[in-house]
Amino acid sequence: MSLADFPRHPLTFGPSPVHPLPRLSSHLGGAQIWMKREDVSSGLAYGGNKVRKLEYIVPDVIGSGADTLVSIGGVQSNHTRQVAAVAAHLGLKAVLVQEAWVDWPDSVNDRVGNIMLSRIMGAEVRLDSSGFDIGIRDSWQRALADVEARGGKPYGIPAGASEHRLGGLGFANWAYEVEQQEKELGIFFDTIVVCTVTGSTHAGMIAGFAGQDRPRRVIGIDASATLEKTRDQVARIARHTADLIDLGRDLRDDEITVLEGWAGDYYGIPVESTLDAIRLTGRLEGVILDTVYEGKSMAGMIDLIASGEIPRNSTVLYAHLGGQQALNAYSALFRE
Ligand SMILES: Cc1ncc(COP(=O)(O)O)c(C=O)c1O
Repeated sequence: MSLADFPRHPLTFGPSPVHPLPRLSSHLGGAQIWMKREDVSSGLAYGGNKVRKLEYIVPDVIGSGADTLVSIGGVQSNHTRQVAAVAAHLGLKAVLVQEAWVDWPDSVNDRVGNIMLSRIMGAEVRLDSSGFDIGIRDSWQRALADVEARGGKPYGIPAGASEHRLGGLGFANWAYEVEQQEKELGIFFDTIVVCTVTGSTHAGMIAGFAGQDRPRRVIGIDASATLEKTRDQVARIARHTADLIDLGRDLRDDEITVLEGWAGDYYGIPVESTLDAIRLTGRLEGVILDTVYEGKSMAGMIDLIASGEIPRNSTVLYAHLGGQQALNAYSALFRE
C-alpha cells in the first residue's frame, strides 16, 4: 500500500504554510531558515502536530463505532487538547488522563492553557499523579476500562498518538507536502529540524522523506530528556511506517538522527537556551514558541547553525509543531 491508499479525514485547512525567517537568518549569519507552520494549520483548538496525525486515525475511529476517545498526556499536554477538539468536531466524547509529567510549581498549571481548553470543549479531564513516561500507562488502560464499564465504546489513542499503528502516517504525508511546496517555491530544503518526544512526528517525516529522490537531513532535537527511549521509539515507528507505506527498503541507521543537548535535565522544564531561543524568535520574527518543545528545538537549530554543523549554504526548514497554549502556565518566567 502506498500512503495515498490510506484513508485520511481532513482536519486542517490544507497544506500548512511555509515562509522564510529573514531576520533570524541574517542574525545567525548562516543558513537560510524557513518555517512550516503546524501551529496555524487547523481551526480545531489552535491545531498543532497531533491534528495531522489524527487525520489518519479518525477513519479507524469512525470505522470502530467508538463513542469516546480516551487519551493521555501531561497536565499541559497539547496532544490531549487536540484529541478533545477532534472529539468535539466529530460529535464524540473525550476522556483525558492528565499525568503530573512536569514538576512545575506554577499555581495555575492545572487551570490555564491546554487543560482549560480541553475542559471548555467538554472533555472529561482526570488528573493523575504519575510522572513522565512516553510508553503505555496503567492510568490510560484504567480509563479505557472505565468507559466500557459505564456502557461506552472507547477508542484509545496513546500519548502523542505515537504508539498507534497509524501514528506515523500524518508526518509521512507532511514530507510529501514539503516536496510539493518546494516545487511551487522553486527551493530545496536540504535540512529539516524537528522537535521530538513521543517520536511519531519525526519518525513519519523520516519514512516519508526516505522515498524521495533527493536525500536530505532530518534532524530531530530531543525534548524528552529520556534520550534512549525517544531514540528507540523514533527508530521503531519510522521503520514500521516505512513498511506500512511500502518504502521497499530498510531504513539505514544514519537516516535516524536524534540529537541531545537542549532538553535540559527534565521534560517540560525550560533551560536558559530555551528561553533565549523563545525571546530571539519572538523579537526578530514575531513568532511565538513554547517552553516545553519548540523553544528547545529552536535552541538546537540556533547552535547547530552557529557551530557550522548546519553549513552556511544550507536551506533549512524548521517544523513549528504548535504548543504555545502551555505558555500560560510559565508566565512567571517572562515577567521581565
Ligand atoms: C508543540 C509540540 N512540539 C513537539 C512535539 C513532539 O512531537 P512527538 O511527540 O510526535 O515527538 C509535541 C508533542 O509531543 C508538541 O505538542
